[in-house]
Amino acid sequence: MDRICIEGGYPLKGEVSISGAKNAALPILVSSLLTEGWNTYCNVPRLRDISTIIKLLIHLGAKVEREGDIVKVDASGLKNYDAPYDLVRTMRASILVLGPLISRLRKARVSLPGGCAIGARPVNLHIKGLQQLGADIVINHGYIEAEAHRLKGNEIYFDVVTVTGTENLMMAAVLADGVTILRNAAREPEVVALANVLNRMGASIRGAGTSVIRIKGVKSLRPTTFTIVPDRIEAGTFMVAAGLTSGDVKIRNCEPDHLEALIYKLRQARIIVEKTNGNGLHVVGPEEIMSVDVETLPYPGFPTDMQAQFMVLMCRASGLSVITETIFENRFIHVSELQRMGADIIVSGNTAVIRGGSRLSGAPVMATDLRASASLILAGLVAEGVTEVSRVYHIDRGYENIEEKLSNLGARICRIRE
Ligand code: EPZ
Repeated sequence: MDRICIEGGYPLKGEVSISGAKNAALPILVSSLLTEGWNTYCNVPRLRDISTIIKLLIHLGAKVEREGDIVKVDASGLKNYDAPYDLVRTMRASILVLGPLISRLRKARVSLPGGCAIGARPVNLHIKGLQQLGADIVINHGYIEAEAHRLKGNEIYFDVVTVTGTENLMMAAVLADGVTILRNAAREPEVVALANVLNRMGASIRGAGTSVIRIKGVKSLRPTTFTIVPDRIEAGTFMVAAGLTSGDVKIRNCEPDHLEALIYKLRQARIIVEKTNGNGLHVVGPEEIMSVDVETLPYPGFPTDMQAQFMVLMCRASGLSVITETIFENRFIHVSELQRMGADIIVSGNTAVIRGGSRLSGAPVMATDLRASASLILAGLVAEGVTEVSRVYHIDRGYENIEEKLSNLGARICRIRE
């Protein structure tokens, strides 16, 4: 397993270009199952999770061509409705094939994804919503077995805001008979991007980006082309890295409007964030970072996927800060590794209190999930000495060439391939 080594103490300076959003590309690639013919997607990030979903699409019978950041998918040959455990467990977002398979083949057998490091990650709301659209669903030997003669529009209320739940039900409803209303729907930009693709395919979706989405079923959809939106979490990670290292970084190909909550909190911490020419940001880190309290919330609140990275920033801030994680029940795993680097953090339930000002020291640490591994790399950028992050396959799931991008900004970072 590869390791990443970082020698701390070098401010980041220069320009970085942000890749396409993993969490938009995944549902959009799956949406190709809803039609026949070639769909072309541009700005698709080169990530492990993208390779995993492509493997699953091919397993189901689709043809896939990939060249650089362009991926083409033709699901005319879709015949297999079975998404096996060995594929689904490596990438939970595989659950997104459930809605399209029921819609297209009237049948689906998808492995329950199971939990992961950050939480139990149930999919009960996906199942409940599909049942409300008329699918007969049983759980057998760890698999969701679904059948539906014809899906029928209905009104669905999500007890909890769920991003992939909203996306799954949106894809199930676009070809159903009649109108579906999704209430308490997720408002993430990735949900909006999926609705935009589906509407370009001929769907009739209104209200994406708000908590009430109205979907009028249509007879069929046609293939389309689409450019994936920038990854707001990758952009946010580099913004924190710039602030953390007292750097001066221009971030290109990002969408500042998707980052309002983070920009607000970074400015509160005295980090200079300026919007530049439409799709850029200029971030300058101060000598002294101020402590700021954060609570993670569904979009447009502060993103849970930026919680671990922001915690590292607060380790460098002067004073006490409180971070409350309201989305996942176990998303402080990075804390114990940061404590091994000298961070002064106390966790109680879903709240972490960070006493800033401690100088982090380099150490061998272990990545446990995608965003935790990003936080350990950020910590290595400012720690005294060398930090060695193991199990970096976690980071390769969601960050394209992170060590190359950081090295181009002046970080002393390298990957040891094993
Ligand atoms: C999406 O996961 C993202 N993944 C996650 O990003 C992100 O952290 C999360 O949304 C929250 O923003 C993708 O988009 C591929 P949820 P998702 O369903 O959809 C509960 C990353 O780092 N819930 O919005 O799986 C759930 O337990 C990943 O890129 C139910 O109770 O998350 C959680 O507490 C990590 N029942 C809350 O809702 C359900 O049926 C939000 O989860 C579904 C969810």
